[in-house]
Amino acid sequence: MSIPSFGVGTFRLQGQVVIDSVRTALEVGYRAIDTAQIYGNEADVGQAIGESGVARDQLFVTTKIWTANYAADKLIPSLKDSLAKLRTDHVDLTLIHWPAPGNGVPLTEYMQALAEARAQGLTGQIGISNFNIALTREAIAAVGKEAIATNQIELSPYLQSRQLTAFLKEQGIHVTSYMTLAYGKVLKDPVIADIARRHGATPAQVALAWALGEGYSVIPSSTKRENLAGNLLARDLHLTDEDMARIAALERNGREVSPDGLAPAWD
Ligand SMILES: NC(=O)c1ccc[n+]([C@@H]2O[C@H](COP(=O)([O-])OP(=O)(O)OC[C@H]3O[C@@H](n4cnc5c(N)ncnc54)[C@H](OP(=O)(O)O)[C@@H]3O)[C@@H](O)[C@H]2O)c1
Repeated sequence: MSIPSFGVGTFRLQGQVVIDSVRTALEVGYRAIDTAQIYGNEADVGQAIGESGVARDQLFVTTKIWTANYAADKLIPSLKDSLAKLRTDHVDLTLIHWPAPGNGVPLTEYMQALAEARAQGLTGQIGISNFNIALTREAIAAVGKEAIATNQIELSPYLQSRQLTAFLKEQGIHVTSYMTLAYGKVLKDPVIADIARRHGATPAQVALAWALGEGYSVIPSSTKRENLAGNLLARDLHLTDEDMARIAALERNGREVSPDGLAPAWD
C-alpha cells in the first residue's frame, strides 16, 4: 500500500472555486486530490478532473464516507454515488470521515462495509480519519491493520499528536496530516518564519517540509495558483535536524477542529 506524500485538499471549496483550485493544482503538478461526501463538491472535483486531460490512472483520488452513510446497507450505495459524481469507477482511497462514537452504527459494521467496498473494487485502499488510539485499535480488530492504509488526522507544528503518531507508526499505519498549516496560523510563527528566511523558503513550505520530514503525507488546500505551486515546492526543501527540533518544540496542543458528536476523546 502506498499513499502519495503530497495532495491537494478541497475542504470548504465549492462550485467554480473548487473547479479552479483543482484544475490549477493539476496544472502545476499535483496528482492527488482529497475530497469527502460532506464537502458537497465531489461533482465539481469530478468535473475538474474530467476537464483536466490528466489520465485517471495518473491520479490518486480520496473521498470520505459521511456519518449518515455508515450503516451496512448505506455505505456502498453512498460510495457508488460518490463515484458517479467524481466521474470514475473507483477511488484510490476511501476513509471513514469521523468515528462519530454513539451515532448508532457499530464501528465493526462500518469498517467491514468499507472492506467490502474495497473487495468489490470500488476503492483501491481504505482507511480512517480522526481516529484516536482506542478507536484505531477497534478498527484494526475489525479489518486487520494491513487493511488500514492511513489515519488522516489534524496535525501541524502546533498539534503534533506524538502519542497517536507513535502508535500508528508501531502499527504500520501511515499518517496523513490535514490542516498542516493550522489554517494559516503557523504561517505567522516567528520560529517558522526564521527557518524560512534561512532557507529562502516560505513559511508554508517550512511547515509542509517538516511534516514530510516526519514521514507524513500532506494535503494543503489553496484557492491561489501561487500558493498551490509554492506549497508543492516543499518537497524540495530539506530541513536540518536543528530546524526539525525547533519545530518539534512548537507543540501547543493547538487543535482547530473537534466537532461535538463526531470527534473521539483525543489522546
Ligand atoms: N479528515 C478531516 O476531517 C479533514 C478536516 C479538515 C481538512 N481536511 C482536508 O485537509 C485539507 C487541508 O486542510 P485545510 O484546507 O482546512 O487547511 P490548511 O491546508 O491548513 O490551510 C488552508 C488555508 O491556508 C491558506 N494557504 C494555503 N497555502 C498557503 C500559502 N502558501 N501561503 C499562505 N496561505 C496559504 C489557504 O488560503 P488561500 O486559498 O488564500 O491560499 C487556506 O485559507 C482540506 O482541504 C481537506 O481536504 C480533512
